[in-house]
Amino acid sequence: MPPRHDRPVALITGAGRRVGAVTARTLHAAGYDLALHYRRSADDARALADELERQRRGSTLLLQAELADLPALPAMIEQLLAHYGRLDALVNNASAFFPTPLGTATPQQWDALFASNAQAPFFLSQAAIPALREARGGIVNMVDIYAERPLAEHPLYCMAKAALAAMTRSLALELGPEIRVNGVAPGAVLWPSDGKPYADQQTMLARTPLQHAGTPEDVAGAVLWLLRDAPYVTGQIIRVDGGRTLSV
Ligand SMILES: NC(=O)c1ccc[n+]([C@@H]2O[C@H](COP(=O)([O-])OP(=O)(O)OC[C@H]3O[C@@H](n4cnc5c(N)ncnc54)[C@H](OP(=O)(O)O)[C@@H]3O)[C@@H](O)[C@H]2O)c1
Repeated sequence: MPPRHDRPVALITGAGRRVGAVTARTLHAAGYDLALHYRRSADDARALADELERQRRGSTLLLQAELADLPALPAMIEQLLAHYGRLDALVNNASAFFPTPLGTATPQQWDALFASNAQAPFFLSQAAIPALREARGGIVNMVDIYAERPLAEHPLYCMAKAALAAMTRSLALELGPEIRVNGVAPGAVLWPSDGKPYADQQTMLARTPLQHAGTPEDVAGAVLWLLRDAPYVTGQIIRVDGGRTLSV
């Protein structure tokens, strides 16, 4: 094990793009050095690491892994600890998202959705426990408001996020007092990369009390608050949804 790094260290999965990348910038600006996990977005992850290294040298480590590959999960934690000698925060952000209408869903789709949204967060967290305990650190899971209220034609995604929500509470119960475990449940923040019809977006936003989509920065701010500024909060899942779940 190398000497303990002198700044707190956060591991973010799926950090190359979108909400993961903004969360990385937010934690980095708050003084965390980072392990940036990516799967296929190597160019994005490298560009992000270069950007952050220009701000603070020696503040990033890139980790590539397919999260469905279970042996890769403890290996990632080992690689991180071999580099930094500590881990203070784990953000389980990586996620597969696609429809699985009833009558068409396959076991392969089940595996893909549960692997990234539930199985990997669990086994990555488990592998990180000793280091997080030593650091009196925290875990934040990116859940979804659809874990509570299902999204049509996405039963397996909703079920996988519901498992992640249950995991958040279970681990919070098991891991205190040293480790706090919380979640953030975004509403509409960034539409999926293959888009969502404009009319559907407008209908959704009209039902949202704050009347606009959230930003990745809104989500990242909640992650930072849970990790850094909420020492008496554990087992909670904060909705960052503009109040959308308030309306029927
Ligand atoms: N965007 C929203 O409005 C919204 C709403 C509700 C909840 N959320 C939640 O917030 C988080 C971030 O959202 P997002 O839209 O930014 O996510 P995203 O773009 O859909 O996915 C984030 C990353 O997850 C990685 N990933 C997916 N499957 C993986 C696997 N099997 N192994 C390793 N990496 C895998 C991908 O990395 P590579 O690109 O490197 O392959 C991808 O870039 C997610 O957990 C999502 O469910 C988002």
